[in-house]
Amino acid sequence: MNNINYEYIQNYINQLLPESSGILRELEEYARENHVPIITHEVGNLLRILIKATNTKSILEIGTAIGYSTILMGMAAGEGFKITTIEKNKEMIDLAIKNIKAAGYENNITILEGDASEVLKSLKDSRDNYDMIFIDAAKGQYMDFLHLSFDKLKVGGLFICDNVLFRGMVAEKSLVIRRKITIVKRLRKFLSFISNHEAMQTVIIPIGDGISITLKQKEAKFDE
Ligand SMILES: C[S@@+](CC[C@H](N)C(=O)[O-])C[C@H]1O[C@@H](n2cnc3c(N)ncnc32)[C@H](O)[C@@H]1O
Repeated sequence: MNNINYEYIQNYINQLLPESSGILRELEEYARENHVPIITHEVGNLLRILIKATNTKSILEIGTAIGYSTILMGMAAGEGFKITTIEKNKEMIDLAIKNIKAAGYENNITILEGDASEVLKSLKDSRDNYDMIFIDAAKGQYMDFLHLSFDKLKVGGLFICDNVLFRGMVAEKSLVIRRKITIVKRLRKFLSFISNHEAMQTVIIPIGDGISITLKQKEAKFDE
């Protein structure tokens, strides 16, 4: 139970989805056994649909871990896709390199090592380059990631964030764990910002740990 949905709804939706196969299944098992957090099946399925429906070919991802979501998104994007993915944990990067190679995507996927808030500043040449940005990393930094990456997304592109409802804490005060209060406050501020900015149209979907989908309607400048 993650306090996002009734457990019976979550279980019902999950059992409808076909089981993964091949490398995705292997990575799901590895993640389960080694306690690596990866996107849930429902979120994976949503990403697949969004990528196919929008004919997305170029993606910027923050939070690679073992490369599960990166490979899943690449499979959905198909022929000629390009993903740039940022990860700060060297151990994870080594695993991701191995997994991406096993998937046969080493020419399509570039891993950039470092803290995304630093790495994004050095991506100056990639203005308007991406059809989609997918964020699945430090939740307290989502606003920084938005500010540093929005100009790299095409107008009409999607800016997607995972874990935005953070085990229900973002929506309900009584669920908040004391030591998570700063992250919760930052997520609330972030969600309010992307829900009300004139350059964006946002929907928040209560699947997985909560996912936000923001359409970039026009360019925007942010005050730092
Ligand atoms: C939830 S995991 C990503 C899972 C992956 N997207 C998947 O579903 O397969 C989050 C990852 O983000 C990385 N991370 C957290 N904060 C980061 C930051 N500021 N810059 C770069 N990577 C970060 C962590 O090291 C971790 O591996």
